[in-house]
Amino acid sequence: TVLVVDFGAQYAQLIARRVREAHVYSEIVPYSISPEEVAARRPAAIILSGGPKSVHQPGAPLPDPGILQLGIPVFGICYGIQVIAQQLGGVVDRSGRGEYGRTTLTLAAGSDAGPPPSVLFDHVPPSFDVWMSHFDAVVEAPDGFRVTASTPDAPVAAFEDPERRIHAVQFHPEVVHTTGGQQILKSFLYEVAGCRPTWTMTSVIDASVEAIRAQVGKERVICGLSGGVDSAVAAALVHKAIGEQLTCVFVDTGLLRAGEADQVEATFRGQFDVDLVHVKAADRFLGALDDIADPERKRKIIGETFIRVFEEAAAELGDVPFLVQGTLYPDIIESGTKDAARIKSHHNVGGLPEDMQFELVEPLRNLFKDEVRAVGEELGLPEEIVWRQPFPGPGLAVRIVGTITPERVEILRAADAIVTEEVRRAGLYRELWQSFAVLPVVRTVGVQGDERTYAHPVVIRAVTSDDAMTADWARLPYDLLERLSSRIINEVPGVNRVALDITSKPPGTIEWE
Ligand code: XMP
Repeated sequence: TVLVVDFGAQYAQLIARRVREAHVYSEIVPYSISPEEVAARRPAAIILSGGPKSVHQPGAPLPDPGILQLGIPVFGICYGIQVIAQQLGGVVDRSGRGEYGRTTLTLAAGSDAGPPPSVLFDHVPPSFDVWMSHFDAVVEAPDGFRVTASTPDAPVAAFEDPERRIHAVQFHPEVVHTTGGQQILKSFLYEVAGCRPTWTMTSVIDASVEAIRAQVGKERVICGLSGGVDSAVAAALVHKAIGEQLTCVFVDTGLLRAGEADQVEATFRGQFDVDLVHVKAADRFLGALDDIADPERKRKIIGETFIRVFEEAAAELGDVPFLVQGTLYPDIIESGTKDAARIKSHHNVGGLPEDMQFELVEPLRNLFKDEVRAVGEELGLPEEIVWRQPFPGPGLAVRIVGTITPERVEILRAADAIVTEEVRRAGLYRELWQSFAVLPVVRTVGVQGDERTYAHPVVIRAVTSDDAMTADWARLPYDLLERLSSRIINEVPGVNRVALDITSKPPGTIEWE
């Protein structure tokens, strides 16, 4: 394991992912971790990530200096190089201007006969573009360290002590703008830390299968399927581990996307031969939502109804002590640290109440989303499931503004299916974070043939995003918009107009409710 020390912001996650892309397992730890805890985990290496602007800032996060004395290989990146310089006796100074963006790194010259200045730079050219973002700069490397590279504004852009196996760079090797950044990271992992590239999706699957078997023994396990990626991959993994001991429960709320229920049936019952309970609860959900227009009430009702339906299905199965959840690594990292205001009450299949008395099986808790998809592909899940865009737990209900009736669900589902089909055909489905249709509450006048119509508009919502925390409205090509408009109006009865939502998040949210 490589431990990536987190000083805040998103740097640590990106570095952890890059390490894993080099097929070395990595985990993120808080900067407050003690040297004893680090030592106990026997990491192959420690990476100090980027962080706040300055080690001189009051209250700047600093790790226990003992961590650098453990004899474990260390790689400092950006803020990390400054931490190392400060803790080992170098000098970090306000350089005057700082550096932001692209600049050129030049390696210190090795001697004619001697080795190159650093094994980190073995496989990169003597000068190349790097991405910088710092305020202070190291002006003097600590004793025993040699400076291995510089930029016009940072005389000490990299330093190292190969004896102690401590290396550090001021630039960001983890971002794509640093040419050869991944190569530098690999050189550290393979050459300095002696890691082998053995962490692959096959090894992940093998290890999870073993861990799941060890956890559940001969007991029975239940898994809620939503049709989304996470629960599908979690279920497939658990099924691979324990086969018939697993029962999956799929609740059809009547608020799913077109074809979703069939897809789940075909995949889990058909392809994987999973014991699948398919609860057809559309009437119950629509009944409970009758005449409800308030978004938060909709969410609450759906969440509660879901739990009740799930509990009943679970009760019929008898004694099932384990529940599978598709929790991902970012949820684990962020839980506890997140204190955001409640904008919407989210409902997940995972959000089952604690008093249900299940022990949790969370086979994806160490994986990032793209790794979950890779595991899904490796397990043979179909492309439509593995690459499905995120879909809210309350389903189409939060895309139908106002009250929900079977007719309105039908209109939206049909329009949504056209959006998905055309976006896929345009080759944009994976590139977009989400693309879907929304049904507002108004009606508008139109003319079709010689007839006046008074019918619903449908709104197209398509966004790009990395994590749904922020999003930008997608600049869909005009010809795609034209096809969407004419197909939706021609093919979906009750729709006479198509509009486009051009709001980013913030100030909008991705969903309309
Ligand atoms: P908003 O609309 O808040 O959505 O910008 C951010 C992301 O979360 C999804 N979303 C949900 N997912 N349960 C979920 O599992 C929910 O209740 C829920 N509400 C919104 C939304 O689709 C987007 O990807």
